[in-house]
Amino acid sequence: MRTFSIVKPDAVAAGNTGAILQSLEAAGFRLVALRLVRMTKAEAEGFYGVHRERPFFSSLTDFMSSGPAVVVALERDDAIRELRRLMGATNPADAAPGTVRARFASSIERNAIHGSDSPESAAFELGYFFPGVELG
Ligand code: CMP
Repeated sequence: MRTFSIVKPDAVAAGNTGAILQSLEAAGFRLVALRLVRMTKAEAEGFYGVHRERPFFSSLTDFMSSGPAVVVALERDDAIRELRRLMGATNPADAAPGTVRARFASSIERNAIHGSDSPESAAFELGYFFPGVELG
């Protein structure tokens, strides 16, 4: 089964891309597709469309379009749940020790990594950046 992840602009700018991908691979995820992207504001708004009404939407989409990010399709058993566990809580202050966000995130917004939260969002998000890559 597959899921979708983004190494966010804060983590790429800080030089943490390799360490984050390493922790995904060490947890048994295989890389299915990977690309460095510089999102436009409109692309970030389309990607995070479900959050359009949230107070942080404008700031979030500014941040996500502020610099290069790494988008990646990942495969392992129970991929969606396992990635969420490995990432840790959205707010790094609440993230369990050893998780990607505990190690690399600096705030609830600049939180180093994104991972799909359901099969429906994984299907949408995979297709958004990797047309042709299916949930599997
Ligand atoms: P992500 O898992 O990519 O999903 C939505 C993103 O919005 C989230 O990670 C954070 O980067 C951001 N986010 C969520 N909640 C807040 C918040 N309360 N304030 C600012 N940004 C947030």
